[in-house]
Amino acid sequence: MKVIVVENYAELSKIAAEMIAEAVTANPNATLGLATGSTPIGCYKLLAEFCQSKRISFAGIKTVNLDEYVGLGKNDVNSYAYFMRSKLFDHIDIDLNNTAIPNGCAEDIVQECLSYEHMLSVLPRDVQILGLGSNGHIGFNEPYTPFDCSTHIAELSSNTIADNSRLFENSDDVPRKAITMGISDILQARKIILLASGANKAQAVYDMVKGKVSPKCPASVLQQHCDCTVIADKSAAALL
Ligand code: GLP
Repeated sequence: MKVIVVENYAELSKIAAEMIAEAVTANPNATLGLATGSTPIGCYKLLAEFCQSKRISFAGIKTVNLDEYVGLGKNDVNSYAYFMRSKLFDHIDIDLNNTAIPNGCAEDIVQECLSYEHMLSVLPRDVQILGLGSNGHIGFNEPYTPFDCSTHIAELSSNTIADNSRLFENSDDVPRKAITMGISDILQARKIILLASGANKAQAVYDMVKGKVSPKCPASVLQQHCDCTVIADKSAAALL
């Protein structure tokens, strides 16, 4: 695991965007694994700028997202489908048919997990972007999720519900379940870039980088990946 500590969020976003731009330039038909949450927003904004200035193109790029809340439709402002359109897809030249996000409103969510898992098996990710939960989760793989799990329905922990409630009108509106790629799916990516920003991530960053590899901190499994780069700002890296 390579750890890059940067001064601030702007620098973190720039380094991440440059790494993704490099991957897209090297392989214009690459498949990217994308994350939501506040942390990648700055990186996505830069990628949109790179695309608008014609430095890179997403015309041949495919994307697969990590997760989606169960019960939120793609036009719900709190859905991750809406997030991806508003933060990235609406501003780049990607073909929306080449973007995949689990359907949180599928009639049969168990079947939706199986279909998503099948799609992942035929669409290996060249680069996977990750954020980090303050409890060490990746995607919605909460503490004690087995490392070998595939796409599944996750029960959100009270910690995650509290963290994510800032984006909802009140905490009762935060869905209690989500469809998420499993840890085994995440590990299949050729390259992983994890972004962590802010003091509330400091303990999780420490456990991920220096702690024992254990399901207690799902992100600690990334120590075993052969090409994982963590980009953390000073506050998130404070305990390293
Ligand atoms: C959610 C997402 C994660 C994300 C995490 C951190 O729980 N499922 O993929 O990494 O939030 O979000 P933020 O970047 O807003 O701190």
